[in-house]
Amino acid sequence: MPYTVPHLTDFSAAALDSAVSELLSALEQESAAVGAESEWKAFRDRWIARKNGIFTQLNDLWLKAAPAPHKRDVGQRVNELKPKVEQAVNATYARLLSGALFKGRSVGRAKTVAGARDKSRDDARDKAGDKPPDSAPEIALPYRDASERLDITLPGIRRPIGAEHPVIKTMNEMISVFRNLGYSVEEGPEIETDFYNFEALNFPPNHPARDTQDTLFIAGQESKPLRDRLLLRTHTSPVQIRTMQKMKPPVRVVCPGKVHRNDALDATHSPIFHQIEGLAVDTNITFCDLKGTLDHAMKAMFGSSVKTRFYPSFFPFTEPSADVQISCIFCDGKGVRDGAPCRNCKASGWIELLGCGMVDPNVYGFVDYDASKVSGFAFGMGVERIAILKYGVDDIQLFFQGDVRFLEQFL
Ligand code: PHE
Repeated sequence: MPYTVPHLTDFSAAALDSAVSELLSALEQESAAVGAESEWKAFRDRWIARKNGIFTQLNDLWLKAAPAPHKRDVGQRVNELKPKVEQAVNATYARLLSGALFKGRSVGRAKTVAGARDKSRDDARDKAGDKPPDSAPEIALPYRDASERLDITLPGIRRPIGAEHPVIKTMNEMISVFRNLGYSVEEGPEIETDFYNFEALNFPPNHPARDTQDTLFIAGQESKPLRDRLLLRTHTSPVQIRTMQKMKPPVRVVCPGKVHRNDALDATHSPIFHQIEGLAVDTNITFCDLKGTLDHAMKAMFGSSVKTRFYPSFFPFTEPSADVQISCIFCDGKGVRDGAPCRNCKASGWIELLGCGMVDPNVYGFVDYDASKVSGFAFGMGVERIAILKYGVDDIQLFFQGDVRFLEQFL
């Protein structure tokens, strides 16, 4: 009497266990009885055919019939049975193959699994003129282990597409703040000439102000005039010179990019970092415009409650110059946090963030702007520094080490 899937009425654990073991012993017996390929096919279809195979019937006769409180139990057992049934079908086939019960040509996996043996057998047969008969049975591609098999009805595996690096993300956020104010974006070369990086920005040759931005010169250029010698740019200000050379006022641009300095690396310094600099030149631009613009940008980046403060400073290409500080976002400008002095602002309540100033009239001389007609302001900030504050990162090196565990936090 061949096995048929019983209609279950008792769904207790004991009844389920015995139904499962009955099914497994039938599976084992039927597998053992398979002795030829055609029998194996019938065995396979009987157990795993999508339509009405024994495994499919389990869904209707056991799973769907189970009352709600037992569904989980039944589902678990049916799930466990699936690989066992598939494994039995595969193992039966493998047994047929290894017993070399198939005479004649084998295809699909048979060829790869028993490839070497098949080949020597084929060779011997060819020599003997014993070609396999045309009517030799075709072996259908066998079922493979669940892990190997390709089920094309499953949804595909999505590759993770990655995410913007936190530095690029911060840079793009800052750019969009200025885009919304009507600024356009300009980029320039990372390898610059001395002229664009220093001279046109009012750092005369041998002037001590050059020491504030120690850089890396390309070797072997001693025969060139100083202004043509190539170096790694120390700031993106040269892009502002290039922009003024090709555009007449009014100009409103931001210049994002990578810059290099001959600095030793530590938790807050890196020899490679990123900047965004900005430039606005027009008639009647004043220091008030500069303050209003940067105050707005800082509020857009760090929240509307931050305050800004302008502190006298020096840059060769701006006069007057200022450092911009924002009220400490960690202690709300109080200098004290949880009863202790705030470490982020060294208890001062302020954090220095960027440099700025009114464009020095000498700079206009290098780009053929009429200093008596136009005025403008410029500013520049380090992107990593902003990202460090925004995301509470405690070491700038983390941005450049490419550790996925760090980067994943910004997904
Ligand atoms: N270029 C300056 C720097 O890298 C920043 C800056 C830009 C300062 C524009 C003032 C005006 O340090």
